[in-house]
Amino acid sequence: MNHRIVAVPDAVRARAHIDEAKYKAWYDASINDPEGFWREHGKRIDWFKPYTRVKETSFGPDNVSIRWFADGITNVAHNCIDRHLASRGDQVAIIWEGDDPADTRRITYRELHAQVGRMANVLRNRGVAKGDRVTIYLPMIPEAAVAMLACARLGAIHSVVFGGFSPDSLAGRIQGCASRLIITADEGLRGGRTVPLKANVDAAIARLPADSVDHVIVVRRTGGAVAMEPGRDVYYDAAAREVTEECPAAHVEAEHPLFLLYTSGSTGQPKGVVHTTGGYLVYAAMTHQYVFDYHEGDVYWCTADVGWVTGHSYIVYGPLANGATTLMFEGIPTYPSVARFWEVVDKHQVSIFYTAPTAIRSLMSAGAEPVQRTSRASLRILGSVGEPINPEAWEWYYRVVGEERCPIVDTWWQTETGGILISPLPGATPLKPGSATRPFFGVKPVVVDGDNRVLEGACEGNLCLDESWPGQMRTVWGDHARFVQTYFSTFPGRYFSGDGCRRDEDGDYWITGRVDDVINVSGHRMGTAEVESALVAHPQVSEAAVVGYPHSLKGQGIYAYVTLMQGVEPSEALRKELVAWVRREIGPIASPDLIQFAPGLPKTRSGKIMRRILRKIAEDDFAALGDTSTLADPAVVDDLIENRQNRA
Ligand code: PRX
Repeated sequence: MNHRIVAVPDAVRARAHIDEAKYKAWYDASINDPEGFWREHGKRIDWFKPYTRVKETSFGPDNVSIRWFADGITNVAHNCIDRHLASRGDQVAIIWEGDDPADTRRITYRELHAQVGRMANVLRNRGVAKGDRVTIYLPMIPEAAVAMLACARLGAIHSVVFGGFSPDSLAGRIQGCASRLIITADEGLRGGRTVPLKANVDAAIARLPADSVDHVIVVRRTGGAVAMEPGRDVYYDAAAREVTEECPAAHVEAEHPLFLLYTSGSTGQPKGVVHTTGGYLVYAAMTHQYVFDYHEGDVYWCTADVGWVTGHSYIVYGPLANGATTLMFEGIPTYPSVARFWEVVDKHQVSIFYTAPTAIRSLMSAGAEPVQRTSRASLRILGSVGEPINPEAWEWYYRVVGEERCPIVDTWWQTETGGILISPLPGATPLKPGSATRPFFGVKPVVVDGDNRVLEGACEGNLCLDESWPGQMRTVWGDHARFVQTYFSTFPGRYFSGDGCRRDEDGDYWITGRVDDVINVSGHRMGTAEVESALVAHPQVSEAAVVGYPHSLKGQGIYAYVTLMQGVEPSEALRKELVAWVRREIGPIASPDLIQFAPGLPKTRSGKIMRRILRKIAEDDFAALGDTSTLADPAVVDDLIENRQNRA
């Protein structure tokens, strides 16, 4: 195949940390001698007690166990703040850009140190200790980073829940890890609209057994009136006045959990992905430095929300561990205008910009003019994450936004991987629009067929990893068996990502998307099973099957086939009600785009729904339906085709 190839620009190579030769030498070393490689690179963070052990990992089949730097003692907040104070105390750590362009804050490392100490003391006063779980349900305000770091300082384990999740989803995540303290805000503010965060917390707690939650700490964001339960709820500003800024960083083992993050899978309810301290931080910091070719003086902006792993690793932990200036943006790309991203780039002189293809596609539809109204001269590196970037969006990003000056790093990774696994390095890797290109140091991708046979050379198949890397998740919270089952049983002995990929003749990787029942809507991961269980919880729904379909803006849209209870008539009103129902049950990101009422779903004689067929119908790919003769009732397929919903 012929691909357009964008060579590494000389100017980029000249100042890059890693050029082609160094990439090759380091990569080979990392694969041939992982122990030696990581022994060296683990030193990039401070250790209170240095590690002597490095890599103790097994992908089974008998025993799945992942431990890195296990006898080392450290603290993430110390590494992200305290160790920078002597050299860069007055440097800005966090630039905050509010929803309203008039709202900006700049927080130095010294100020961050004080704020984190204070927040940590507020938590400690309320009984939070090492190993306790704290749920964080905050908008994109500096207090979100402060709260995460305060937990890390105490050795408490944070579980950040994205502010777009419903009270039900929040309740499940509070209960899942038995966290007794919640940090939230009165309201969030996005695109000029308020989000009732505190009211959602109240509704979530009301769904839990009595006395599940001891404390709710409420950061004032909008000042909107909210109900405060005496004895349980306290405003953060009031609590903070009662404590000092001094709070020593707890000494924790490298394998002490740093955070949980709930994520969707192909079956069941979301699971708590567990990341630990030492290996995670080493990996987040190292990938941040080399993938974005981060240099002293850069202003770095990742547009993700801290509710997702991208926000954890590449707004907070990676950049701060490197002593960077990281920008946190509260708003949305189109408010107050479609030029907002580029205006913020100019305002804060952003040099590294990291966003999602869905944002690029939506801005692309507004044309080049709003972009060209801005200078963007400060930009040096562009990044993409969350879903495959289609070549049209890549080209627009490259030509219009970056004016052909800025390499695009298309970074493939997952909540489970903790950090970037496959990506170009700006000074080392020629770019191919749509390809995530090469593995990062220590990452050993393999492509296997359905029978776990390793494919060589140019090929297409299931993307697995054959070696552990320090940022890898360690377990599912409270359920190690589910961890083993989910990631190590499909292809025994290897970590299975759930993604399909192609490897071309140059050895570059092209991620083709999920091969399981997970869909990717605007870069947000959604389990079809979760949407289905929300739908069948509706009293008028008897059965539901959900699949993804190609959507021009979102990447994938949610297509739901719904069978109603006997006697219930399909109607537009019911369709609307079901969409609203799912939004309420899970959150707006799970809203079905299309609902098709179906008298029956295609099932095998043993009663299993044939999703392959449903997927093909949703994709308008009728020719590829395949063999339908094994269905219990082949006639349902004709009805499904006839009544299919038109795609966006
Ligand atoms: O399907 C892949 C897709 O996003 C999934 C992981 O989603 P999540 O855990 O929410 O993490 C998103 C941010 C890291 C992957 O299994 N994905 C992520 N990045 C890319 C991607 N697909 C193609 N190209 C990417 N660069």
